Parts: sequence; C-alpha cells; structure tokens
Amino acid sequence: MRGAGQLRRVRGIGIAVAAALTALLAAAASADVDNATLNNETDGIDWGAYGRTFSEQRFSPLDQINRQTVPHLGLAWSMELPDVWNVSSAPIEVDGVIYIAVGFSVIYAVDAVSGKQLWSYDPKVDPLKMRMAWGIRGLAFWKGKVIAGVQDGRLFALDARSGQLLWQTMTIEPGDNRYITGAPRVFNGKVIIGHGGADFGGVRGYVTAYDADTGKQDWRWYIVPGDPAKGFENKAMEMAAKTWKGEWWKYGGGGTAWNAFTYDPELNRVYIGTGNGGPWNAKLRSPGGGDNLFLCSVVALDADTGEYIWHYQTNPGESWDFNSTMDMVLATIPIDGQPRKVILHAPKNGFFYVLDRATGKLISAEKLGKVTWADHIDMSTGRPVEYPGVRYEDGETLMWPGSGGLHNWQPMSFSPDTGLTYIPAHELAGYYNDRGIDPKTYDMVRDGPLGIHAFYDDVPKNAGSSSLLAWNPATQKKAWEIPLPGATNGGVMSTHGGLVFQGQSDGKFVARDDRSGAVLWSADMGVGTQAPPITYSVGGRQYVSILAGWAGGQMLLGSLSAQHGWVGRDHPRRLLTYVLDGAAALPPSPPPSQPVPVDDASFKLDPALVAKGRELYQRCLICHGTAAVAGGFAPDLRASQIPLSEAAFAAIVKNGGLQAKGMPPFPELSDTDLAALRNYIRDRARYKPTVGEQLRTAWHFIVLMIKMKLMAWGWIKP
Ligand code: HEC
Repeated sequence: MRGAGQLRRVRGIGIAVAAALTALLAAAASADVDNATLNNETDGIDWGAYGRTFSEQRFSPLDQINRQTVPHLGLAWSMELPDVWNVSSAPIEVDGVIYIAVGFSVIYAVDAVSGKQLWSYDPKVDPLKMRMAWGIRGLAFWKGKVIAGVQDGRLFALDARSGQLLWQTMTIEPGDNRYITGAPRVFNGKVIIGHGGADFGGVRGYVTAYDADTGKQDWRWYIVPGDPAKGFENKAMEMAAKTWKGEWWKYGGGGTAWNAFTYDPELNRVYIGTGNGGPWNAKLRSPGGGDNLFLCSVVALDADTGEYIWHYQTNPGESWDFNSTMDMVLATIPIDGQPRKVILHAPKNGFFYVLDRATGKLISAEKLGKVTWADHIDMSTGRPVEYPGVRYEDGETLMWPGSGGLHNWQPMSFSPDTGLTYIPAHELAGYYNDRGIDPKTYDMVRDGPLGIHAFYDDVPKNAGSSSLLAWNPATQKKAWEIPLPGATNGGVMSTHGGLVFQGQSDGKFVARDDRSGAVLWSADMGVGTQAPPITYSVGGRQYVSILAGWAGGQMLLGSLSAQHGWVGRDHPRRLLTYVLDGAAALPPSPPPSQPVPVDDASFKLDPALVAKGRELYQRCLICHGTAAVAGGFAPDLRASQIPLSEAAFAAIVKNGGLQAKGMPPFPELSDTDLAALRNYIRDRARYKPTVGEQLRTAWHFIVLMIKMKLMAWGWIKP
C-alpha cells in the first residue's frame, strides 16, 4: 500500500513537472504580451498592441527596411477577405501571427510569413446595432489572449492559439445607443474600453476596466455627471456637475471615449480622451453656458482605482462635435533645453497640444493648419480664445475645421529619431445651423440628437483636402507638409529605418523619408484605405502589414469620397504584407468607377413622401452617403435597381436580406416609410442642381464667410 501510495505521489509529481514543462515550452513558443513587453520601446520584434507599446508612438525600432533598402520592398503575400464589411483596423502581431479585427469584429489569425489563415472567429453582432456603428479600429493582446470589442457593446477574449472564446462581457446597458468601435488597451492585467454613441442621443459616456483573465468588472468611471438628484458617483462628478446648467442628464450629456486611452507605466495612470457633447449644441445641452466637464478633455485616472487625478479640457462648452478622442502619445521632448515627459495630442479642433504628464498643465498649443474658430490658446488659463459668432449665436456658422476635424481617429506617429510627429491632416469646413430650435422646447426625438439641423446636401468633390504633416512638438512648428489625394488618408507609422509609412485614399501604400517627406517607395493596393500599417520581425526578416479597403468616415462624405472611384462591392478588402525582395503578385481588381444613377420614368414622385423620406434617410446616411450620394462604401442607392422594386426594397431594408453583407435590417419601418424612402431615392436620382441653385448656395456661404471674418476682426457683433 505504501509503495502504491509513493508511486502515485511520484507519478503525481511527474505529471506536475511535465505540466510545468509544457507550460514553460508553451510560454517560450508563444511570446507573451504583458507590462514588460508593452513597456519595452527598444525591442521591435512584435507589434503587440494598437499603438505598439504603452507610449502609443506607433514607432518601430526596426531598421532592416530603411531609406537605402526600401526600394526593394515587395509584396510577400496578400489575403483576400471575403464578405467583410468595413476594414479600418490596425493589425497586431505577436510571435509570427497577425491578428486583425474586420467589419463587425470578425477576428482572423494569420501566419505572418505564409499568409495562411490559422483561425477566424465571428462574434455575430446584434443586427440592430449594425446600423449606427463604424468598423472596429483594433484589438489587444494579453498573455495568450486576443481581446476585442463588438459594436453591440460586448468585450471578449479568445485563446490566441485556437480562437476559442475564453470570456465575454457586456459593457453597455441593454437597448441603449452605445457601441464599441475602439481598440481595448491592456495594462496591469486590466483591460480598458469605452464606447461611442453621443451622436445618437441619450448617452452618458463612461470607461470601464475589466480583469483581462476573467472579464470581471474592476472599475468604471463616468465622463459626465448624471442626475444630481440621484447623487454623484464620486468627487469628480460633483465637481463636474457645477459646470453644467439646466437638465442635461435628460439628454445623456455625451462625452463618450470611443478611441484613445494611453497607459503611463511611470505614473501608473491611464489617460482618457473624451468626446463631444450630446447633443452637440451647447445652448440646448446646458442652457446658460458652463464648461461641461469632462467633455472634450484629456483626463488622467489612477490605473488601479479609476480615481480622477487631473484633466485638461480642449473645448470648454463644446458645440461642434470637437472630440478629444484622438490619440495621446507619450514622449520625452526638449522644453526650454530640458527633457520633459509630455503627452502629444492633436484633437479634432485643429490645435496641437503638449501637456505635462504629471500635472496635466498645458506646455504649449499651436494651430496645425486652417483653424478659424479660435485665435489662440491663452497660456495663462489654458483656454481657447474663441471668435465671436462661432457658437452660432445668430443661428448659423461656417468654420474650419468642422466635425470631420483637422485630425481624426486615423492615428499619428511620433519618431524619437527625428523628434517629429507625423499627422494625417485634413482641411474640412463645418457648417452649423440651429435656426428655430428653441432650448425651451427642444425635444431630442423630434429635433434630432445633435441639436442642429441635418445637412441634406452632397459634399462636393472640392470641399476638402488632406496632407501628411510633420510637426515638431518641441518648437510647435511645421517641419514639412505633403499634400495628399482626397480628404482623408490612413493612419501613420514611423520607423528607425528613417521611414514614414501610410496607406492613402488613392490606393497607394507609400514610404517616405522621415526628414523630408520625399517618396522613397510606393505600391498599389488595388483599393484605398484609412487603416494604419504595422511592422515586426519574424525569423530575422522585417515585415510590414496593412489592411486595405474602403471604409471609415468615407462612408458619408458623398462626392468628396466618391472621387476615388472605390466601390464597396467591386473593390477588394485585403490584408497585405511586404518584405524586402518580396515578389508576390497583387491579385487583380477592377479599375475605379463612378455610379450612374438609374431611373424609371413611370415612377411618379409624391412631394410629401419625398420630404418624409429625406428625414428617414438620416438613418441610412452613415453608410450610403449624404444626399444619397454614396462615398463608395455601401452601394449608391441612386444607381441601384433595388429601390425600383417595392418588394425587393422591403426584403433588403426592412427584412435584412443583405444582413450578412453588412446591410442592417430596419424592422421598424412601415410600408409608408419604405415608400417615402423610395420616393426620396428617386428624387435624388433625378436631381440635377440648376445653375441658379448652385449660385444661391455659393452666395450664401460666401456671405456667411465674410460675416464670420468681420466678427473675428471685431467689426461687427453677432
Ligand atoms: C451600417 C451601414 C448601412 C446602413 C446604416 C444602411 N445600409 Fe444599406 N447597405 C449597406 C451595405 C454594406 C450594403 C451592400 C451589401 C452587399 O454588398 O450586398 C447595403 C445595401 C443596400 C441596398 C441594396 C442595394 C443593391 O443595389 O443591392 C439597399 C436598397 C439599401 N442598402 C438601402 C438602405 C436604406 C434605405 C437604409 C436606411 C434605412 C440603409 N440601406 C442603411 C450598408 C448600410
């Protein structure tokens, strides 16, 4: 008996040793991402997080591909993605495996050397949440797990080897307007995620930290105060509530953090970039004024507890959808001859901010380009000095930038080699009009969740422009700027090889000299992109990967985006990987094309239904484009046969016939609603602006521009 017992014990120890060995081997075989890896700026082997490391610099120390060798860069392989909706995400790479999140958070694991798919996982998004959300922008990796959010509010973790679901948790409340599109970030075994939704009404933003191993909630921090009668969650909310007026909580307030979070390992803090107000219009949201904390801010929270530490608000009392949700990059740069630990931040509003990480104090802020809403940032108060009239005091305003931002979610990159920040910049105006919407009678359902009038016109091809801007944060001066095609281009990566990589809207993937912006290499992707590239090394060879496909804000910008000729159905969505001396051939794809509206002369327009359809079409605009002019992502409805048939239209729009391809169902639409939409689409298909109409519109904007200038100079008052 004793012998058997001993044997059992010995065998037990043997099994334990074997298990430990297997675990060790497994750990050795799969490089793990943890605090140490994410804090290591000098090891460029993997790209294990959205911004590569905690700093979010999107800079790689790899230099096998450099200014000299880059002309030999070629395609290693491409992977065509079938039937996926929207590709705007940054891949990650760990230990020779690339992970991508495409469309409605379908995750693929792909061998980085061969391009072979290892597994894929579809979380099956709630169809009713498909309609309001953009594509997912990235995912996270932590100790053998791939972690991603879904548009319907779920956060989930997969086993990185098998793609098996390990845990999932719901981060939002049932039936609310929140949705996830951002990449989660992981630190200290905690995963943090926020959400979008401020533009859809009734949303009070928050961020939540979960246990990365179990998905159990750790802490949650609300961004704007709730109903004071219910008491405040913490001191920060009590303080914030003093900066709001009226009954803001009835509208939600907004502030949603839908994109950027940066963990600071030295101070054990997480910085949150917060969003716009809900509604946008401050007169309605908080009648009587107030800064409306913590909208449009960078907020520092204790990473362990989620407790508030400091904030810097870029737009007090925001009224223009000026998110501060754009990336926050940690860097050490010389300020007055001393190295200083700072946050670099280029929110939508067009200024470039340098903040002290420890205190949140503003070090400097300058305009990156055309900014007409404020004169400068007052360094003593840290507040913008706004021009009169920009709060549409007279009922309307035209200003630069608008809600598209001078910089948006497409991430920038900071190179410690050059000390420059490389920013995908745009020049796009904003027009805001709230004539006749009265704060006393404002009804969010009736008057719309933005609190300004909807924009019903197409966005002309020449309404915006874009550039790649190299900005020196230490001197707050431009180093160089290269004009780019179209209005928005992809996120940026820089490397120790002296290169800046960017995917463009014209379908080119370009590497530039980080000192001058000169093109050193470019490749045709067969379709434009908005997604940022990554680089990593496997078996001693440096690779560069990027997702290509037409997506993002392109969807609603009408003719401005359609100019490139990318058509969601015709053009590919693909994962492309490049290596020195790569010689793979790019699979063929159709040339760019433009939609040709079709018509049925026997279709008799009913003006009342056209008007009703125009309002209902607001639900379609995010994908099918403003004024039914598609930006090239979803089909141009003016050119589609489907709206010509009552039955086919109902089958697709009401009953979800194309749901699997990314067209959400709208079960709430009545027969009259469907008829109204069909009438509106026919009206748009027949619409040709008359010269008189065009002149009137142009004249209106010219007069408004002159008026805004005169107000800025103080010659007239609003
Ligand atoms: C979240 C994005 C999204 C929204 C919102 C959306 N659609 Fe779509 N829609 C799509 C996509 C993507 C397709 C193409 C799917 C495919 O490839 O077959 C599509 C296809 C269609 C088609 C079929 C066109 C054709 O020629 O086959 C119709 C009709 C249509 N949508 C109407 C609407 C209407 C009307 C609304 C608003 C009530 C709407 N859609 C809202 C994404 C969207």
